Amino acid sequence: MKIVKATPANIRKAAAAIRRGGVVAFPTETVYGLGADAFNPEACARIFEIKKRPRFDPLIVHACDARMAKELFLKIPEPALKLMRKFWPGPLTLVLPKAATVPDIVTAGLGTVAVRVPAHPAALKLIKLSKGPIAAPSANLFGRLSPTTASHVKKQLGNGPDIILDSGKTSVGVESTIITFMGGKPVLLRAGGIAVEEIEATVGKLFIPAKNSQKLSAPGGFKKHYAPAVKLKLVNTEKGAIPGPRAAYLAFSKPPFGKYKKVEILSSKGDLREAAANLFKCLHSLEGKGIRVIYAERVPGHGLGRAIMDRLKRAQY
Ligand code: TXA
Ligand code: MG
Repeated sequence: MKIVKATPANIRKAAAAIRRGGVVAFPTETVYGLGADAFNPEACARIFEIKKRPRFDPLIVHACDARMAKELFLKIPEPALKLMRKFWPGPLTLVLPKAATVPDIVTAGLGTVAVRVPAHPAALKLIKLSKGPIAAPSANLFGRLSPTTASHVKKQLGNGPDIILDSGKTSVGVESTIITFMGGKPVLLRAGGIAVEEIEATVGKLFIPAKNSQKLSAPGGFKKHYAPAVKLKLVNTEKGAIPGPRAAYLAFSKPPFGKYKKVEILSSKGDLREAAANLFKCLHSLEGKGIRVIYAERVPGHGLGRAIMDRLKRAQY
């Protein structure tokens, strides 16, 4: 299997592969996804095998527009319609009661399904040409760093996917924000590419479940997740880190003073949006290369900082 550029001809080939029951890695605005025909249970089963993902962790279904998305739901509360109108296409996933047509393997047997419309031309074209929704988790091995480039996908999944469509680095860089509803009230299941503040401006105060609430969290919201292959330690400032030839430093905006084997800076402007876009790329670059520990600086918790801090906390041992 090769990485191919996401040209119109290659997107057509990839769509044909999906229609035949194949598995294709493709770009979205958040991270690369590993997709299959959402209505083909065997094809979806291959996604779990390739990722080594446990079957109890459901997939997100990708639609090319709100119309295709709505057919996957049984019913849609008014505030969910508002969110769709405001944020689709974009990094927002809605979890709502599922239509009977959605296979159990996609939802891991849950009565709800997670759906989003990605804001990426290649992804939208792929879904359109596949003639139906595409189930796709992030295209990484289970529990490991999410891919923001095609080569990140190749590094972890090797020859697993039939095709990897390459469209360069993703623009948002962290996964979608996941929202569900309880008694008509919006609930945050995962912080992501759309800031909580923006969602609250549209539908009012979000309920944010306590960290260890089993019931009110995405089944895949395991404590340790999004982890690099080496140990990661969160620090408030450089004072919390021990420099050395086997240590790496992930700074928010200013380079550290100490000597480290490798340093990455999320955003020299101190911009949280830019920091989110660079997060996984920086972590991919720091893992390996003789590094034993990555010290990661805390970032401000507002805006996209919430999603960044969520991923960094889960990456800790
Ligand atoms: O940005 C994204 O969302 C990316 C791109 C590829 O679209 N996808 C992604 O998928 O991050 P994945 O599988 O890595 O994360 C999906 C999360 C999991 O934590 C899963 O448990 C949760 O969504 N999820 C899926 N269906 C759910 C449901 N019915 N109820 C609650 N959580 C659900
Ligand atoms: Mg994932």
